[in-house]
This record gives sequence, structure tokens and C-alpha cells, in this order.
Amino acid sequence: MDAGEWLREAHGRLRASGVPHPGRDALLLLAQALQSDKAEVLAHPERAIPPSSLALLQSLLSRRESREPLQYIRGFHEFWGLKVRVGPGCLIPRPETEHLVESALRLLQERTAPRIVEAGTGSGAVLLALSVERPDAAFIGLEREREALAWSRANLSGRPNVCLVQGDFLRPPFAGGLDLVLSNPPYVTDPEWDDLPPEVRRFEPPQALRCGPDPLSPYRALAGWSARALRPGGHLLCEIGAAQARRVRALRSLHGDLIWKFSLRDLAGRVRVCAWERS
Ligand SMILES: C[S@@+](CC[C@H](N)C(=O)[O-])C[C@H]1O[C@@H](n2cnc3c(N)ncnc32)[C@H](O)[C@@H]1O
Repeated sequence: MDAGEWLREAHGRLRASGVPHPGRDALLLLAQALQSDKAEVLAHPERAIPPSSLALLQSLLSRRESREPLQYIRGFHEFWGLKVRVGPGCLIPRPETEHLVESALRLLQERTAPRIVEAGTGSGAVLLALSVERPDAAFIGLEREREALAWSRANLSGRPNVCLVQGDFLRPPFAGGLDLVLSNPPYVTDPEWDDLPPEVRRFEPPQALRCGPDPLSPYRALAGWSARALRPGGHLLCEIGAAQARRVRALRSLHGDLIWKFSLRDLAGRVRVCAWERS
């Protein structure tokens, strides 16, 4: 079988399974199996697929047909221009979370050697991006789930300024003097969860996404201890979802010692990041 034939067949099978971008995914799976890249595969549809690669391709294709995320199958995802390893047990970093990184860098602009905590590190993508941009900073990543922490460790083991801790951000162990606390906490409500695609509901860890009945509860918990752990003038920075954006008034007055600083909208005009300053 040649590459062109395989692509046509895989496209049809993925489309029949409801995969949103069947052509792109078929191409990326073939490139992965042939240890090649998309352009090379597209340029040579006549290339014969070796029998040894056909078995691997069959297994990759079946996984994608079952709606396993392409990023888990490939084993990595790109975030902030960096390759982040991902797989079962950690959330695949979303493009909108780059707004969190962007906002953190803006808040840290005037600070030298700042001390930063990320609550809920997941894959470690946010800390990887920040630690590359700010090698002078000291970072602590707090993650409750053992499997997610293993992914953070895999992605951050080479970063000398990052320390990872297993723990609960509802009962954090931080004394004080922090410049920034940032988090992309679980914020998907139950009705929103039901509308998510199978890639998310069946494969990504629900504890990374679902916030339970009160959409503001993770933010109140983060605000409660950040108000104690931040130094005056330090910041709390959080990503939010649609359910939280509807409650902007409550978010603005999250805690008596935290003054509303700014919110940032995504390209679709939705508020995605909120920042508060410790008075
Ligand atoms: C939405 S994911 C964000 C992951 C990563 N920071 C990112 O933006 O891609 C939330 C993360 O917080 C972790 N988490 C949820 N509740 C937690 C808690 N109470 N304490 C510590 N980590 C928690 C989850 O396991 C998950 O890894």
C-alpha cells in the first residue's frame, strides 16, 4: 500500500468515527509512523509503506478512531513554541492558557528574581514556558494528582529554577513573600462537561477539569491563601471559563485584601484571565 492510498482510507475511517479534522489527523499519524513530517508525506503519495509500519499504523488509527486525543497518541503537544510531553493522567495544555503565561510575564516585568507558585501544574506546560522566559525567577509547582505530577516532572526535570511539590492547593504549605500565585484551576461545570467532545470526557482526567457545583469555589480557595502568601503588591492570576466569566462582579470582590487589577479577553472577546493585586 502507498501513502496516498493509506491516507484516503484513514481519512474515511476517521470521518466515520466523527473525528473533527480527519485529513489532518491521518496525515500526522502517517508522518509519526514513518518518522517523517507532514510536508514530506504529502510530497510523496507514491511512497510505499513498509509492512512493518502497517501494523503500527493500524494501532495508531484504531486509537484515534476510539477518539483518544491525537496529542496523547503522538505523546506531545506544542505550547508557547515548546514541545510538552503529554499522555493519560494530564490535561493537554490549551492554546488559551498562553494568555496566562503572557499575563504573568507582564506582571513580572518590573521584578527581579521573583518568587512564583503555580497551583495545579498538570503537564508543567505553564512553568516550562515561564521558566524559559524568566530564568532569574524561582518557581514552585503544586499538584495534587500523582499521575499529573509525573508528567510535570518529565517536562521540568531539566529546569534548575523549578521545584515540584505534591499537595492540595486547598491546604497549601506556603508561608509568605510570594510575588505571584497563578493557576488554571478546574473550572468546567456539570452542564458544560456534558457538551464536551469524547476526546475530553473519555480520556482527559476529570479532576483536572471539573469544578463541581460552585463555579467560583476554586477561586475563593486560591484567593484565601494567596492573600496571606503574597507580599503587598504581589499578584494572583487565574484562568477562568465561561461559567466564571458570567460572574465577573463576584470575581472582582473575591477577597478583601485583593484588589481587582485587570482581566484579559481571548480573540473571541471572552474574558479568560483575571488578575488581583495584594493590598
Ligand atoms: C486545568 S488543569 C491545569 C494544568 C496546567 N496548569 C495547564 O494549564 O495546562 C488543573 C490542574 O490542577 C490540578 N488540581 C486540581 N485540584 C487541585 C487541588 N485541590 N490541589 C492541587 N492540584 C489540583 C489538577 O490535577 C490539574 O492538573
